[in-house]
Amino acid sequence: MLPKPHIVNLPVYQPGKPIEDVKRELGLTEVIKLASNENPFGCSPRVQAVLEEEIANISLYPDGSAVELAGALAEYHHVNSDQIIFGCGSDEIIALIARAFFLPGDESVMADQTFSVYKSNADIEGAKSIEVPLKDGVHDLEGMLQAIGPKTKIVWICNPNNPTGTIVPDSELTSFLDRVPEQVLVVLDEAYAEYVADPTYSDGISLLEKYPNLIVLRTFSKIYGLASLRIGYGVGQPGVIKLINQVREPFNTSRFAQAAAKASLADLEFVATCKARNREGIRYLNEQFDRLGLEYFQAHGNFIMVNVKTKATEMFQSLLRLGIIVRAGFPVYPNHIRVTVGSAEQNAKFISALEQVLLK
Ligand SMILES: Cc1ncc(COP(=O)(O)O)c(C=O)c1O
Repeated sequence: MLPKPHIVNLPVYQPGKPIEDVKRELGLTEVIKLASNENPFGCSPRVQAVLEEEIANISLYPDGSAVELAGALAEYHHVNSDQIIFGCGSDEIIALIARAFFLPGDESVMADQTFSVYKSNADIEGAKSIEVPLKDGVHDLEGMLQAIGPKTKIVWICNPNNPTGTIVPDSELTSFLDRVPEQVLVVLDEAYAEYVADPTYSDGISLLEKYPNLIVLRTFSKIYGLASLRIGYGVGQPGVIKLINQVREPFNTSRFAQAAAKASLADLEFVATCKARNREGIRYLNEQFDRLGLEYFQAHGNFIMVNVKTKATEMFQSLLRLGIIVRAGFPVYPNHIRVTVGSAEQNAKFISALEQVLLK
């Protein structure tokens, strides 16, 4: 067999540990997963009814271009339907962008500790990743601008950044976009946008008119609570969206996903409640970290990165034994864990376990 040489040694993506695996391996009855930034409050109650209706249509292919959902989202975001593309999660949009744009030897610029899927897809296409160090956990947009060269095709900005949870303020983002060469595509990944309460945060979709080389990624996996159904979307100028559509598989989002997304979009009360509860969770966790003398990054999404002052991979194992799954193993931050903001009860149990480990 002769696979592409540059994919032979690529690592396989390591997701957060599944709850059932941990229960079985450690013989625990209760396990709390705070590792994948899922919504601890589930999804809108309206979703169940539309999924039940869709059961009758299981034998039918979905609408490949998700016309109804695109119409609803276009109205919601004040854009046209031809400015939206759907993916099997925003993960797939990232892969499609890489597929549409990279030739082997191209370059893309990203932060040194950000969502790993940008680099893995660049690797798959044989493109080189230029990783610019975060500054205090925040994207260094000036550094990223300087890293752009003649081979740069894409700049990836994760806002809020996974795993640090930080945001770039509106003024810095627009100053950056003003100076990026127009042939370079800027991918602004806003998977956690709906959680952000900070007034300096810009809704990237409102910038699309001014910056035709921008594409904004959103997802139904986070605040809408539809992670298992796999649906995310990109919004950009029609020309950019058309290019990406040309490399998309015909039926990449299911009927269930499209129907659930549409129903979720019609229940903004659920979204507002989750946002408010998440802010309460952040406040609580920040207070507890302060009490325990632990430093953390300002969290704007539904997760917090905290310095546990010991090897994070060891902390991960200790918490696991107490039935709490978090995320560790971030090369730039070997002493930090990333924890999803859970329900009030889950957060309290996490803090109690963390304290137990720290006091040992
Ligand atoms: C920053 C960021 N972008 C994209 C995704 C992918 O989300 P999905 O493929 O579920 O839409 C995630 C998931 O964790 C993420 O953290």
